[in-house]
Amino acid sequence: MKQLNAAPTKNVQLLAWVKNWAAICEPEALYWCDGSKEEYDRLCNEMVDSGLAIRLNPVKRPNSILFRSDPSDVARVEARTFIASEKEEDAGPTNHWIDPHELKKTMLGLYQGCMHGRTMYVIPFSMGPVGSPIAKIGVEITDSPYVVVNMHIMTRVGTRVLDVLGEKGEFVPCMHSVGKPLENGESDNGVWPCAPMDKKYISQFPETREIWSFGSGYGGNALLGKKCLALRIATAQARDEGWMAEHMLILKLTRESDGKIKYVTGAFPSACGKTNLAMLIPTIPGWKVDTVGDDIAWMKFNKDGELRAINPEAGFFGVAPGTNFSSNKNAMLSCAKDTIFTNVALTDDGDVWWEGMDGDKPAHLIDWKGHDWTPDMKDADGKPVKAAHPNARFTARACNCPVIASNWEDPEGVPVSAFLFGGRRPSTLPLVYQSMSWEHGVFIGSTVGSEVTAAALDVKAGTVRRDPFAMLPFCGYNMGDYFQHWLDIGKHEGARLPKIFCVNWFRKTADGKWLWPGYGDNSRVLKWVFERCDGEGKAQETAVGFLPTEDAIVRDGTDVTAEDMKELLTIDKDAWKKELETINEHFAKFDRLPAELEAQRKALEARLNA
Ligand code: OXD
Ligand code: MN
Repeated sequence: MKQLNAAPTKNVQLLAWVKNWAAICEPEALYWCDGSKEEYDRLCNEMVDSGLAIRLNPVKRPNSILFRSDPSDVARVEARTFIASEKEEDAGPTNHWIDPHELKKTMLGLYQGCMHGRTMYVIPFSMGPVGSPIAKIGVEITDSPYVVVNMHIMTRVGTRVLDVLGEKGEFVPCMHSVGKPLENGESDNGVWPCAPMDKKYISQFPETREIWSFGSGYGGNALLGKKCLALRIATAQARDEGWMAEHMLILKLTRESDGKIKYVTGAFPSACGKTNLAMLIPTIPGWKVDTVGDDIAWMKFNKDGELRAINPEAGFFGVAPGTNFSSNKNAMLSCAKDTIFTNVALTDDGDVWWEGMDGDKPAHLIDWKGHDWTPDMKDADGKPVKAAHPNARFTARACNCPVIASNWEDPEGVPVSAFLFGGRRPSTLPLVYQSMSWEHGVFIGSTVGSEVTAAALDVKAGTVRRDPFAMLPFCGYNMGDYFQHWLDIGKHEGARLPKIFCVNWFRKTADGKWLWPGYGDNSRVLKWVFERCDGEGKAQETAVGFLPTEDAIVRDGTDVTAEDMKELLTIDKDAWKKELETINEHFAKFDRLPAELEAQRKALEARLNA
């Protein structure tokens, strides 16, 4: 094995860990990443030269490249994601479990010699501002230069992290291989390397805080700082250390008239517009939204009992299709340069395109599979052929977002005033309501659900899929214990707890018309949330919680009529009784449901029957 540079650390544990994996994986070369721009540019150029990436037109999309993955490697693979705790019951009913010893045996077999012909990269990274009391250090080993350059954008990589780690510091070891050794001088020949589905494993070992990933090079399966570390492993750390690791955006809301600021975090299942909300441009004058994060929040109480949040990431791994200048101008500007695109289409002038982008469809493209594409093309079912994969992504630097908050990297974090929970709910749930207490808020979070729109999921379209706290695929331990952790956070001594709200941008009339315009108009709801945090904002007490009065949310400048607002704020007791039945079914799935949540369910039932 060629050692391409000297190890820039004296951390004995780290050196031993790398040596051990090098002996197992047998790479051709070993390289310690320094996080420099020179390193980023060099790896990008190497991948362009070898045909794995395409450099985009430097005038239209400066410093940006495009990758096309293997069609079998296009998304997170939940069925191949494992929480390997010592006891099955500690993984709980919502996770896939394999005995950790058995899983390690299987995976060690796969890792044996898996890096033949490849370079093993060692990536020291910080989740959160380097040296922040809320941040954590991870080190990822990978044989994918695609992973290295994405990690450069999504986390803080490099030698400065090793300086903080020191000789004895702790790190989360993250092991990754694409699982495609190159034998006897073979090369990838421009083809995305990965292993077949039944050889892919995305494994978390919560007790030993380890991550082992094999066989996929895509997104959350391979960029191990994101879902694997910052959520699955961090939830277990947070439970043991008394803090919170959540699948939440963080936004900064400013009332310009008096300069008052509040920070709001929000958990929403996939495809509910989290990135759009994080970068929202208010339609009401006098309000401003700045972005702190769009996907993950780590929150810890400070000595004054304030809950302080950091965004552990340094970039956005955003879904491209559907993003345009109306739905999210700030995301469009964030990926205007310095961006890695994966599985979007290529235009004839060397730029990118995806379904839902502004303007007319181009007359010709190269689609995400590398084939010629024209707008008239139809698939076997007669449906238009998509030029970009529906889960095509942009990896963009947070610092390129025009509304990134000036203090987004404050190592102390930002003080959180409100939590939002939401999902796609065409009926029953009002536009917004506030919980009656912390415990009631935890009940709301535990029952988050979203209407299933994609028929591909193993759920009947139109039904509500429960996704507690939007954490279904991301909680690293038993979900019942995680609910209890939320209840315990509410008992933190001297805590100044955020207020909890449920929002629903997706309510429809009986004949299927959207009742609420959404996007920038969601600022109208944020304004009410802001006011409620100060004990202002007109509200009415109902059986489900505090709702705005019909005149509390500004409608001027929208098409929302007084009638619409009335409907948006209607609590239909019969529909809620049905809702309670489905909550009952949902709760029945948990083996460790805290008694407090069942008490909250009963209390809601009693209020609805009163
Ligand atoms: C994501 C997800 O990619 O939640 O952020 O799936
Ligand atoms: Mn996410």
